[in-house]
Amino acid sequence: MAEELIIATSADKKERYATLIPQIESLVEGEPDTVANLSNIAAALKQTMSFFWVGFYIVKNDQLVLGPFQGPIACTRINFGKGVCGASWKEKKTILVPNVDEFPGHIACSSASKSEIVLPAFRNGEVALVLDVDSDVLNDFDETDRESLEKVMRIIEKLL
Ligand code: SME
Repeated sequence: MAEELIIATSADKKERYATLIPQIESLVEGEPDTVANLSNIAAALKQTMSFFWVGFYIVKNDQLVLGPFQGPIACTRINFGKGVCGASWKEKKTILVPNVDEFPGHIACSSASKSEIVLPAFRNGEVALVLDVDSDVLNDFDETDRESLEKVMRIIEKLL
């Protein structure tokens, strides 16, 4: 793995993701431990994109359970279909929420969260985990985040 993350600080969001994604691939290369890999991916995303909260919820039996993350403490368990994370699991798709107050059933782990994006990763066609990213700014996520973070999910799927 690389020893230090190179961050395109002066660049726009698209360029920061473009610099980050190949580094995520080398960060996880040769490491078989999922917790170690998800931990470094959460840290790399936080360092590069300065997200308010970024982390994983892992499917365990009939719930999502908090996994590696960066940011303030968070809810530990989410039921199927509940909140944005549970909805992403149920619907098996990325959900982008410009304003969390307008998402029915949004789970407020922090009152500072204003917008959110949640993306699933699949194993054998079933959701194995979701990536949750929260912002303290309204309408902070767009198609660049969706496309780039979906590339990260495809890297993660190779590790599951
Ligand atoms: N807001 C999420 C819960 C997880 S926290 O934001 C970290 C949801 O509605 O699923």
